Amino acid sequence: MKVTIFGTGYVGLVTGICLAEVGNEVVCVDIDQEKIDRLNQGIVPIYEPGLDAMVKENMATGRVKFTTDMAEGVEHGVFQFIAVGTPPDEDGSADLQYVLAVAKTIAEHMDDYKVIVDKSTVPVGTADKVKAVIQETQQQRGVEIDFDVVSNPEFLKEGAAIEDFMKPDRIVVGTDNPRTAELLKALYAPFNRSHERVIVMDVRSAELTKYAANAMLATKISFMNELSNLAERLGADIEHVRNGIGSDSRIGYDFIYPGCGYGGSCFPKDVKALERTAQQAGYKAELLSAVENVNDRQKQVLVNKIKQHYGEDLTGKTFALWGLAFKPKTDDMREAPSRVILEALIEAGASVQAYDPEALNEARRIYGDKPELKLMESQDRVLEGANALVIVTEWKNFWSPDFDMIKTTLKDKVIFDGRNLYQPEMMTRMGLQYYAIGRGQ
Ligand SMILES: NC(=O)c1ccc[n+]([C@@H]2O[C@H](COP(=O)([O-])OP(=O)(O)OC[C@H]3O[C@@H](n4cnc5c(N)ncnc54)[C@H](O)[C@@H]3O)[C@@H](O)[C@H]2O)c1
Repeated sequence: MKVTIFGTGYVGLVTGICLAEVGNEVVCVDIDQEKIDRLNQGIVPIYEPGLDAMVKENMATGRVKFTTDMAEGVEHGVFQFIAVGTPPDEDGSADLQYVLAVAKTIAEHMDDYKVIVDKSTVPVGTADKVKAVIQETQQQRGVEIDFDVVSNPEFLKEGAAIEDFMKPDRIVVGTDNPRTAELLKALYAPFNRSHERVIVMDVRSAELTKYAANAMLATKISFMNELSNLAERLGADIEHVRNGIGSDSRIGYDFIYPGCGYGGSCFPKDVKALERTAQQAGYKAELLSAVENVNDRQKQVLVNKIKQHYGEDLTGKTFALWGLAFKPKTDDMREAPSRVILEALIEAGASVQAYDPEALNEARRIYGDKPELKLMESQDRVLEGANALVIVTEWKNFWSPDFDMIKTTLKDKVIFDGRNLYQPEMMTRMGLQYYAIGRGQ
């Protein structure tokens, strides 16, 4: 089948490559000339495990092409995927300017039937807006060409995006037109072989499903973070509590890890946007506000512990920071807790020496050259000259480090662990002072 994808970010690029991988002819369109030039040289602009090789393979077979030529993109696919960003607007609602710009582009160039598939995360009612833009633009052109707008939200996780796309838990298709549902089912058939994964529903329910999923996951995290703060004050260990409740099959172990807050390009903006949608619908979503507030506060928890240990003024102190990405296996630093933490430490007078296996380039792009922030390629070297170690992202290579080396290198022999990677008793035995989340300090 012929497929066009607008937007070659985490979602658009993975969608395009996975659809090409199973034999479709895919054209990926982006307005970012530099991104497209790099992709055409086989350079993948983001880090996503397995993606590099798949991009090269599918370019070599000619099943995927990258272009900035909008007209070429619209002409190519019967399926026109919209996978552009939906960042938060000033009031927290989703900014739809990029989605609607693509809708207009499609309407300006289309001359036969198209299925417009909304894969970006968009508020309820967006499909109607996309439809209206297309109708209006067609009217201006003096044409009337048949089309359908489908909501097909994406549930992939950065770091496991290809696996998630190739073996999805479910494929949500929101449409009121049974014929369009069949077209989407045919497109997704290769990802749907072991059992039926396509769930067809009306457009508005599909749009809300995506927000519901992210808000539920964010709620689980904030709930555990809330409890971790309580556990600390009550002398309990949140890790025991986590095991105690995770073993309940109604609760489960996923997404109940206490930590230094959730980040990324989805949870923070989607919780905010859903809260805003509720407000616009005349409903005060109390739980969503609490989830967001708890998370904002949680991003400060490590900073507070550091200040309790060293005092408010951190002038002259140097902190080694492990982990910049908002989670492991990605280079994405959007809304990452690391940003709040390192900025707060610098603000209080400290210097930071940071290491991340994949996000250093992204950090360089965000922070440029700052004397107080050294971005370093070595997990061990950031410890040299540092007073304490601060762990922000749970990359696997931080799980079992050389504690003797850490102890001899850190000036003050202190670890502030935002991901509860180590056993407090073991740290004490090793002669390291250890602050974790919700574990009794
Ligand atoms: N990143 C995730 O893990 C994830 C998961 C599920 C859903 N989503 C949702 O998917 C959407 C895209 O997210 P992302 O992380 O891939 O975004 P991204 O910022 O990585 O990529 C968006 C891309 O769209 C391009 N773009 C902007 N306007 C365009 C236009 N008019 N025509 C063509 N390209 C255009 C940008 O240049 C950019 O390359 C968002 O709504 C997001 O909420 C993201």
